[in-house]
Amino acid sequence: MSHTDPEPTGYKPLSNHLDWLEPRDIDLVLEPVPLDQPFTAVVRARRSKRDIATASVGQVAQVLRETLKADFVGNGEKQGRRLKAVLSAGALHPVKAIILRRDQQPIVYDDDADQFLSVQVRDASAYTAFLRTCEKVLPNADGHWVALIADCRNVRRLYSNHESLVWRDAGAVIQMMALLAEAYEIAFCPLGVLGGEIIDALLPETSDIIPVGVIVLGRK
Ligand SMILES: Cc1cc2nc3c(=O)[nH]c(=O)nc-3n(C[C@H](O)[C@H](O)[C@H](O)COP(=O)(O)O)c2cc1C
Repeated sequence: MSHTDPEPTGYKPLSNHLDWLEPRDIDLVLEPVPLDQPFTAVVRARRSKRDIATASVGQVAQVLRETLKADFVGNGEKQGRRLKAVLSAGALHPVKAIILRRDQQPIVYDDDADQFLSVQVRDASAYTAFLRTCEKVLPNADGHWVALIADCRNVRRLYSNHESLVWRDAGAVIQMMALLAEAYEIAFCPLGVLGGEIIDALLPETSDIIPVGVIVLGRK
């Protein structure tokens, strides 16, 4: 299938299920409400911040949810396709986010159920390696790290050269998250590392899931 077909039909997308260890629904208190400022002011004001303090997990989760929440989930032939604030090739939205912090359990955002899940770490040394890498890149950031991973199964099945679509999807997520962080007055910075250790730390070995970036979110 070429890259130019926005909604290829005739294939039923695969499941979006990921094999997290002991996932548990958690009810986070999402906060705050966004500042009442014009979109153009948000766009102009946004800047990466590297000296940041800790925000509440609810504030971080709010930015993630606003970025990745599905406003529409298809069924039948459109099963697995979603419409969100952020755009995505074929409306497949392969990019998923995990909130991480040294003293807290990993929290995954499930965009099918619009639910946050706490999950267990499978490989503690890979988890520590992930945190150490992030802390080395941005030593003055004491926020929550957000790992972005992409589930390539659906996009690979529907499109040739699917990797290039996945990378562009990840860029779109990072930009949208940056703008929403600004709107919520949350500090934001992307990291150049991919954070691949987090996949080893949290999921069974697989080539279906790839790391596509890390960002930090915190208090200005
Ligand atoms: C993919 C990507 C990776 C980045 N990696 C880092 C990084 O490792 N460290 C850092 O301080 N900034 C990083 N940045 C932030 C850029 O340096 C920043 O966006 C650029 O200097 C422009 O500044 P602004 O975001 O404040 O407009 C990254 C940005 C992107 C898009």
